[in-house]
This record gives sequence, structure tokens and C-alpha cells, in this order.
Amino acid sequence: MCGIVGYIGNRNAVPILIEGIKRLEYRGYDSAGIAGISNNNLFCHKSVSKVVFLEEKVSKLDLDTNIGIVHTRWATHGEPSIDNAHPHVDCKGDIAIVHNGIIENYDLLKTHLESDGHVFASETDTEVLAHLIEKFFDIDGDFELAVRNALKHVVGAYGIAVINSKEPDKLIAAKNGSPIVVAIGKDEYFVASDVAPIIEHTKDVVYLDDNEMATITKDGYTTKTIDNVPTSKKVEEVMWDIDMIERDGYDHFMLKEIHEQPVSILNAMRGRFDHGNECLVKLGGLEGHEDVLAKFNRIVIIACGTSWHAGLIGEYMIEAFLRTPVEVEYASEFRYRNPVVDSETLVIAISQSGETADTLAGVKLAKEMHATVLGVCNVVGSSIARESDFGIYLHAGPEIGVASTKAFTSQITALYLLTLYIANLRNVTTLFNCNLVEALKAIPDQVASILKKENEIEALAELYKSSENFLYLGRGYNYPVALEGALKLKEISYIHAEGMPAAEMKHGPIALITKDMPVVFIAIQDAAYQKALGNIREVAARGGKVIAIGTEGDDSLKEKADHVFYIPKTIDMLTPLLSVIPLQLLAYKIAVMRECDVDMPRNLAKSVTVE
Ligand code: AGP
Ligand code: GLU
Repeated sequence: MCGIVGYIGNRNAVPILIEGIKRLEYRGYDSAGIAGISNNNLFCHKSVSKVVFLEEKVSKLDLDTNIGIVHTRWATHGEPSIDNAHPHVDCKGDIAIVHNGIIENYDLLKTHLESDGHVFASETDTEVLAHLIEKFFDIDGDFELAVRNALKHVVGAYGIAVINSKEPDKLIAAKNGSPIVVAIGKDEYFVASDVAPIIEHTKDVVYLDDNEMATITKDGYTTKTIDNVPTSKKVEEVMWDIDMIERDGYDHFMLKEIHEQPVSILNAMRGRFDHGNECLVKLGGLEGHEDVLAKFNRIVIIACGTSWHAGLIGEYMIEAFLRTPVEVEYASEFRYRNPVVDSETLVIAISQSGETADTLAGVKLAKEMHATVLGVCNVVGSSIARESDFGIYLHAGPEIGVASTKAFTSQITALYLLTLYIANLRNVTTLFNCNLVEALKAIPDQVASILKKENEIEALAELYKSSENFLYLGRGYNYPVALEGALKLKEISYIHAEGMPAAEMKHGPIALITKDMPVVFIAIQDAAYQKALGNIREVAARGGKVIAIGTEGDDSLKEKADHVFYIPKTIDMLTPLLSVIPLQLLAYKIAVMRECDVDMPRNLAKSVTVE
């Protein structure tokens, strides 16, 4: 994915665009560029690496424009370079475009355009859009029509913003598969990939739908389909505040978001228990769909990465409670393997960003196969949220750090609530439900108590920051937590780590155990505890270093593991909400000690909106 911001109004667009694109840098940061129109002439400046380098370059130029676009890139076609950075321009240097997504048929389009004499300056798929718009503008002399005609020839995903020095009063945006939001300010308008760069200026937004475009001037905007059918849009108010996307004194967004979890978990529950009967869950997004939710006989959960790990926990929970079969699938596999899905299937799509291309495609496939789709998303108005039949928002607030933390625990919380909600619909209400609710309500304080022991994790990180490999082991509900702990370490510290069911270690991976291989064991006093102790002994007997996550009061664990980090006791199903916290902190501390770029790890982006 990448970040896009556009501006048209009475202020100088350049500082607005630069500040705005900084707030989207978590979406991609291998190169950046800005374009605007000054005295009816287009200017375009680019840089490689982070936005700060573009900012330095631009600060030396006296740029002043009331209309502009800016982009921070996450490359899919063509290496990160000045030539491949956006904005891309046409042959005459009149039209500039920024793009998020993939033009699947760019090869064919490029061949045709080159045969028409167009000269390309980059290896990207995006550049074909600039030349295609130029081609149709040369024919029609109408910028909006030229954009529309160009997009009709495109196969693939796009979120674009485009300007033309021949019609300097128009900023055009369009969307198909990659998010675009239009924001309405006071005599000024913004376009962006998401609301982060906008909310300091205005909270009134409209979200473009697929195959929809907006033509924006200083005086207003119109929206149409790319088939020129006018559309009417509901202006929505963004509920996030600017301080929610600032670091608030933390060194990194990731650390801030780890520490936000007592609040974000609480917010995932807030207002979702019936006042009269605390065991009854209320989920506003599902109201009116009770019949559907009561009848389906199978659940398929689709997601990617951390969200897929949350789905595994949901599988264990839902099957334990509802006895309904659940399968958890990588969305990237689900969408291509012709899955067995029908009108009796509930597909749950889990996505923090709500923009992950594979998960979005999985949702669309599931709907084509007549399944009902329930979205579990954090970003309100995101593509997956709007494509789903109904859903549950996490209310976790913006998650800026590329490594997902608070979204993971909020996803698990939402899945617990969903399970209880459906159990209520099916009269599977048992005393256990109430115990679960009481235990769930205690979690935020328990998470806070864990966070107070951050220094213990710091000491562990100091001991193991130079290790080259880690193994993460867990059983039952904590097997997915082992996977998540390994992913966290990999993606921000670049240390290879593998998570697996603890018992599986004996079927091969135990060959890896040496004194240089730290093994993180989630060995809490749950149903699988005794088996986990056996696995710890097997590792210790081979000289492996064991870091155990144990239950407070389990002093005997200290005799079996090299290090023990204790977490409070709760019911088995809820332990992932606690056991993941030290693993998040361990990954963070090691990454910082290794001087890695925690919030923007190499090669990664916050949401993978390309396939
Ligand atoms: C998690 O730390 C990673 N950043 C990544 O695995 C992420 O969970 C995955 O890309 C899915 O993103 P989504 O939840 O926004 O769909
Ligand atoms: N496909 C375009 C490129 O490689 C855009 C990638 C993105 O969405 O970040 O430049």
C-alpha cells in the first residue's frame, strides 16, 4: 500500500501536503514525491527513502500552490528510486498522478501507449495512468472525461489523485479497491488514503466507493461513477482526534499502542453488555441480523498475519462454546482455491485496516458464493467494513505502528463478544458465560499490571537481543499466541523466529535446540499445563534456554525454566489477552536494542493493499 494526500483551497498546499503525508508514512516509506501547479505550470519533486528527505528537498524551494498531491510509496512494480517514485507525469509534463494499488494490465497499456509515441520514465505500473489520461485529454480536451475514459481501460486496483496544469482549478480522485476519502474543509478540500492527515483540518468526510470518482474545486465537489452516473454521498464525521495519532511522548507508536491496551480492550467492550443482564452481549452492528446469525451451520474465518492469529483463537473459542465447525484460512489461499462456501456459511473477515487486498478479495468471493460476511475491522468506513454484510468495529483507535498490537487484543475481545452474542441467540447461555464476562471485565486491569513490569522484559531483551533464532511454543489458546509472538519479533527486530504448538516441537524442530536458541514457552496453569512442563523439560535437557510465561503464584516454574515472566490468572479462553503482552514487549525491546526502525520496519507496510 502507500499513502496519498491531495489539497485544493486558498492556502499554500505544500506544507499541508508534507505534514499530511508524514501521517501516512506508516503505509509505505520507500520513496516520496509531491506535485503542484504554480502559475499554470506543473512542478514535481521526488526523493527516495522517507518523507523527511522530500521535506528537506522541498524546504529549499520556494514552492507556493493552492493545489497539489503528495505520495509515499510501497513499491510493487519497479524498485524504490527517484524515477519510480510518485507522482508520475505525462510526456508534456502537464498531468501528475499518485496511485495506491496495482494496474494489472499495465504491460498491455504501456505497449500500446509506447507504440503511440509515449515515452516512459519509470518501471512502474502507475505511470501508464498518466500517459493514458494524456492520450484521452489530447482527444477530448476535458480533464474529467479524460480521467474517466482512462480508468475504463484499467484492470486492477487503484486509489488515485490527479492534477492537470491545463485545468489548474480541478483536483480529481478515483477509487477501485484502494481507499480514497474526500474531506470537506472551509473553502478547501482534501483527498487522502485515510483520515490521519485530514482530521487536524476537518472531520467531515465522504468515502469513495469502487468505480467512483470525485472532481473537486475550491468551491465544491461532485461525485460520479466512471460511467458518468452522478452519485450522492453521505457526509460522515470522523470520530478520531489528532492526539490519537500523535505519539504522546512514547518513543514509538508501537510502544504507545502496547500501553494503550488496557483502554483499547475496555473500549472493545464498552456499551456492549446489557445493563439489565450483564451476561447478555449487545452488538449494534449485528442488530437486525439475529436470524441469520442463529442459523448458519459453519464458520470460515479469513484474515492475514496477526489478524489470522486472532482468528485461530476465535476458532477455539467458538467451537468450544457453540460446537459450530470453524475453519481459519489465510485470505490469500481462500480466494484462489475455490473453497466450499454457501448460503449456510458465515464468513468472518478480520482486518485491522479493513483494506488488506487478499482479505477484501476473499470477502467479495464469499459473497459471490452466497455466504454471509461479518467484518471485524478497526478502521470505520474501510473497504472490508463496507463490503461486509454487517460487522463489529474494534474501537481501538488508529493503530499506526506497522506491528499490530492493540488491534490483536481488540480482535480477540471482539471475537469473545461475538461468541457470547451468538450463544445468547442460540440459548446456549450457561453460567459459564457470566464467568467469562466477569473475567473479561477484569482483563484491562490485569493487562495494566503486566505493563508495570516492563523492566523485567527489558532485562530479558538485554540477554537475548543478539540471538539469531527464537522458538515460540504454546498449547491450546496459546498456540496462536506463540505464532503471534514469533511474528512480532521477526517483523520488527529481523531475528528469525518460529512459533508452533509446543507438542509439535518433538516432530523435528527439537533438532534446532542448542544453548544459543532461546525458547519462549507459554506455560500458564491452564488445561495443558502439565504437558507444557514436559515440553520444557525436553528443551532444557538439550541445553535450550527457556523463557517461560507463567501464572502468578506458580513458583515451581522457576526450577524448570531459565527465566519466568508471570501474568495474572484468568480463565483459559482469555489467557491470550494477557500472555501476548510480554511477547509484544519482548519484540519491541529487542528491536530497539538492535536499533531497528520499530514503527516502519524494512520492507513492510501497515496494510498490504496490493496482492
Ligand atoms: C502484523 O503485525 C502485521 N503488520 C501484519 O501481519 C498484519 O496483521 C496483516 O497485514 C493484516 O493486516 P490487517 O489486519 O489490516 O488486514
Ligand atoms: N503499484 C504502484 C507502484 O509500485 C503503487 C504501489 C502502492 O500502492 O504502494 O508504484
